[in-house]
Amino acid sequence: SITHVKARWVLDSRGNPTVEAEVRTFAGGYGSAIVPSGASTGTHEALELRDGGKRFHGKGVSKAVENVNKIIAPEILGEDSRKQEEIDSKMISLDGTPNKSRLGANAILSVSLAVAHAAADTYGLPLFQYLGGALASTLPVPLMNIINGGKHAGNELKIQEFLIVPVGASSFSEALAIGSEVYHSLRGYLKEKYGVSAINVGDEGGFAPPMSRTREALDALIHAVKNAGYEPGRDVVLALDAAASEFYDEKRGVYAIDGAELTREKLIEFYESLVEEYPIVSIEDPLYEEDFEGFAEVTRSLKIQVVGDDLFVTNVERLRRGIEAGAANALLLKVNQIGTLTEALSAARMALENNYSVIVSHRSGETEDVTISHIAVALNAGQIKTGAPARSERNAKYNELLRIEEYLGGRARYPGIKAFKAYKR
Ligand code: PGA
Ligand code: ZN
Repeated sequence: SITHVKARWVLDSRGNPTVEAEVRTFAGGYGSAIVPSGASTGTHEALELRDGGKRFHGKGVSKAVENVNKIIAPEILGEDSRKQEEIDSKMISLDGTPNKSRLGANAILSVSLAVAHAAADTYGLPLFQYLGGALASTLPVPLMNIINGGKHAGNELKIQEFLIVPVGASSFSEALAIGSEVYHSLRGYLKEKYGVSAINVGDEGGFAPPMSRTREALDALIHAVKNAGYEPGRDVVLALDAAASEFYDEKRGVYAIDGAELTREKLIEFYESLVEEYPIVSIEDPLYEEDFEGFAEVTRSLKIQVVGDDLFVTNVERLRRGIEAGAANALLLKVNQIGTLTEALSAARMALENNYSVIVSHRSGETEDVTISHIAVALNAGQIKTGAPARSERNAKYNELLRIEEYLGGRARYPGIKAFKAYKR
């Protein structure tokens, strides 16, 4: 049973405070977890409690930390750490709001994840096996964000993420090596073509070159793949996260991108032409986060993976609505969008049961926490999005997957292009 729960603030990759919790069990189990934080957050996400005021420019988390130490801890001391669902429900009712705004989703999630780690440790299991059992053996294909735009970078690119996907690898470790080679090949290409300032990086470790056009960034990716000795479309394919709510003008109903103002229909045509010209297998948040109908149209017309991030916010109610509308065919799974492990796993389960793919994801504000690597393998999700293969808050996740692959030995599987069930081109 749980004998100790304690939270503190620590800093994330952007230098902002966030919540870390640790949990100990009577049998000697220990677990800790640190909550990540987004920048291009969905409107319907659970609430991240921040102090306001002057300290940390308003971003302090002392209330969230206190909520763990004074309100949550006394309630879950003595509970069996294996009863994840019960503990999560208890915190949900203790909070009592629909978006966890009283205690804070950051407070609740830190404990939820630390409990899972402590329970796994109590039973001497790696977290992915504790959560996924003997069937957990699929290493995720990494979608690596090597050119950053949108809210994650100080450039003019409207599309937030330009990702490389090493589907031609035969193992996760080979995929990561390919990713690293292409990343460095891109660095060389950008430096030569645009000068040294082009190799500065954005929030997720990808380069933030002084570009403004979508095709310019995609061309750079193709050059980098080729220069590294790989074949685009076979060894390495591409993906985008448009995060389109960030360049949508709600009042006028248009998208400001690549020097133009596009209606929904014109933006979909733009995506269609990109998918014709480049080996793009997946596009995330192609439209504004409330446009379920538009998402359904994109899903029908593109015939590739269409991912709902801000659209679904890892919330079963929004996902159910999406499934009914035929909006998207994949769920981006971010545990802090919903605030407990149990609810995040329910969303994943609902997605998988409805033949939606699941991409387990980091946030743009991250830490050394590696829980998502374990969740990806536990679910056999087949895909993970955790930034460029650079900066240690991103590589912590990739490095943990290397360890998991080694641990699984001959049982480890790497799905490659098969992970993209909806890709029908
Ligand atoms: P965020 O962005 O973590 O800044 O919200 C990540 C994403 O949009 O996938
Ligand atoms: Zn996104």
